[in-house]
Amino acid sequence: MKNSFEQYLDTYLQKQRKCLINDAMSYAMEGGKRFRPRIIFAILKGFGIDEAKGYDAALALEMIQTYSLIHDDLPAMDNDDMRRGKPSLHKAFREDIAILTGDQLLNDAFRVIGESQTYDSDTKVSMINALSKYAGHDGMIYGQLLDVTADDRTINKELLEEIQDNKTGGLFKISCLFPMYIARIREEEYFTKLGSLIGQIFQNQDDLFDLIKTEKEMGKSLNDKKNNKGTALSLYSPDELKNLIEDEFTELDRYLEKACFNTDDLKGLLKTLRER
Ligand code: IPE
Ligand code: IPE
Ligand code: MG
Repeated sequence: MKNSFEQYLDTYLQKQRKCLINDAMSYAMEGGKRFRPRIIFAILKGFGIDEAKGYDAALALEMIQTYSLIHDDLPAMDNDDMRRGKPSLHKAFREDIAILTGDQLLNDAFRVIGESQTYDSDTKVSMINALSKYAGHDGMIYGQLLDVTADDRTINKELLEEIQDNKTGGLFKISCLFPMYIARIREEEYFTKLGSLIGQIFQNQDDLFDLIKTEKEMGKSLNDKKNNKGTALSLYSPDELKNLIEDEFTELDRYLEKACFNTDDLKGLLKTLRER
């Protein structure tokens, strides 16, 4: 039985007019771990707010996440054939359809926020600003630009951190800011940094898993080495990277001591991240 956010997502997809792009959108949305939505729900619970208040925010963010992966897998980008446990969208459908589906998910994410019945206008404006900033030039897109122009030889620690803080940190910052807006708290700096710390851990793990896990376990192509990508493993041995990730978890634990919400749920979620 699907959890209620998955049901909410299904209902949204089923409501869309029948056409090839909407079939492709449903195909691509299926199978994600929903880690960013789960951060939204965990922080909301920490504020004593029902997770359902976060469904539209989480849906919009997961749509941006899915679009970013569709475009990331395209032949002109990472050229990866497998995603979320099945053929990448451009393999299952066509390259042109994959580009358009990504474009649609990006646009419709803003529409989900704009048309939401859950948030007031001020909250919507804050959410739309955070989405456009951190999924765009001050986040994911800028990080992807750095990612495609760096390689195994040119990468250094400063650049690696900048790539991680933008390409991955961008969407994690949004997942921490959204519940803060819903709770009507204004601590942008704290929640942005929280997203940054989680994103860095997440991407370091992802870089490590490219070497030590299988495609079946990860449900996606693992081609960083073959593609000479500049990743954490260009700078650290696997053991060094494992130690670095542990240090980052310790830093995150310490950072959470200063949180203005009950961190039990978020800590529970982070435990699953640590153990993955
Ligand atoms: C993949 O993110 C992109 C990275 C930042 C490593 P996820 O590992 O969260 O992918 P899905 O959403 O579960 O497919
Ligand atoms: C993808 O980064 C991050 C995005 C912004 C889409 P990666 O290229 O490292 O992630 P995977 O390995 O394809 O999931
Ligand atoms: Mg990739």
